[in-house]
Amino acid sequence: MPERDARVQTLATGDATAVFPVEGHALFATVDESLVWIDGLGTQTQVRAVGPDLYSALRLSDQSLLLATDEGLLSWTEILSPSTLGLDGVQQLGWQGQSLYLGGPGGLRRWKFGELEELQGEEALTGPFATGGTLGGAPVLWASGEGELLALGEPNWKVWDQLQTDTPPEALAVDGSGAVVVALDGLVLRGVEGKWKAWKLPSRVERVLAHPDANGVYLAAVDALYWMDGEEFSALTVPEGVFMPEGAAAVDQRGGLLMRGHAGVIRMEVEHSVGIVGIHGGEELAGTRLVTLLASEPEALKSLSGTVDGAAISVVDNTVLLDPAGLTVGQPHDLQVKGSWGEEEAEVLLQFGVALPDTATWSEHIRPLYQDHCEKCHGGSTETILRERQDWIDEIDPILDEVRAARMPLGGPALTATQIALIQVWKDGGFPE
Ligand code: HEC
Repeated sequence: MPERDARVQTLATGDATAVFPVEGHALFATVDESLVWIDGLGTQTQVRAVGPDLYSALRLSDQSLLLATDEGLLSWTEILSPSTLGLDGVQQLGWQGQSLYLGGPGGLRRWKFGELEELQGEEALTGPFATGGTLGGAPVLWASGEGELLALGEPNWKVWDQLQTDTPPEALAVDGSGAVVVALDGLVLRGVEGKWKAWKLPSRVERVLAHPDANGVYLAAVDALYWMDGEEFSALTVPEGVFMPEGAAAVDQRGGLLMRGHAGVIRMEVEHSVGIVGIHGGEELAGTRLVTLLASEPEALKSLSGTVDGAAISVVDNTVLLDPAGLTVGQPHDLQVKGSWGEEEAEVLLQFGVALPDTATWSEHIRPLYQDHCEKCHGGSTETILRERQDWIDEIDPILDEVRAARMPLGGPALTATQIALIQVWKDGGFPE
């Protein structure tokens, strides 16, 4: 088997006993017995001096996180104030569509629209599961139990594919193409559209690690680490101070393998990647936001460029200033970033929304809008004068009518829905200065 080089980076030093990535580039880890939060830029915050044993972590919304621990499920509505939800026996968390999946010795449960239900095959589904799979283009959840491996999908968690097994699978994960990779009885299986292929590797694989947003799969054995890209295998060198196979803990959204051991928290990356820190998918921007771009091997990076909805934006010192002004409210916007290292390229796409501020003021919102779009005519040369705040108050209804009908600004381009909504918010708030 060919060897492959990987880049290795130490994210925290100490004795790391658990590590789990949360959406984006942040992660939780237990280092020297305390639970720490490491943000995408490497800043560490201690969450608890004596951590619980961490099994899994998941971001639920902008503000809230869920942790599966040996003390039960913990929710961090604010990261530093835990409250126990008291669902015992949960070791694995996964998010797919509108549902939160909770797996472990207690069976597979689904939390959807405020209701908790148990999912059962012929045998209880107490084994590992993986979200992010697809079959015929439709999303499926791969779940396992004593003697079966099931692809569950809509409608109503119908069984779309099924594999009877003699032993329960040890581990499974979905790769970036939607295929499932399973460690089962000393073999590695890959399932694509109901067709299975099996391989026997030099060492018995016990952990399968991948992220549905990233390319490739890491396969961990007691004394070896493999990289699987489609149907190609290569061998990677295990960094010193990592106990295998449990030390290979999880794969983050950029496709990096997070590892733990005496050497601390280690991130290993086979292919180049770029990432976005400071905004996460689905977030709504209410004002300008400085976003940091991460790129692997910065010394070798040839270029880093970005677009919003296809239009180039400027990247200065690995940062981008996102400005929601001029972007429509109520539809998703694409932030795309590309990195190039000469031969290799990587890109990442993130969708965000635009939120209206709760209040708008004359000085911060309306006057600048007037200066940019109305002043050249309404500053004195037309019959209607709109120079002062009081002029706007007097004319507010005609103004809203004109801009909504796109008759103003005369000769176009029309104001965006966000700009029009801002004028309305200013009016509704009593025209604050
Ligand atoms: C290219 C020149 C131009 C620009 C730019 C422009 N306007 Fe006008 N606008 C006019 C002209 C010309 C009229 C008709 C004469 C008048 O009422 O002053 C007019 C009329 C109006 C009227 C009165 C309509 C009525 O019948 O009561 C309003 C209100 C108005 N504009 C608002 C705006 C606002 C708000 C902007 C900026 C978002 C804007 N205009 C930008 C040229 C312009």
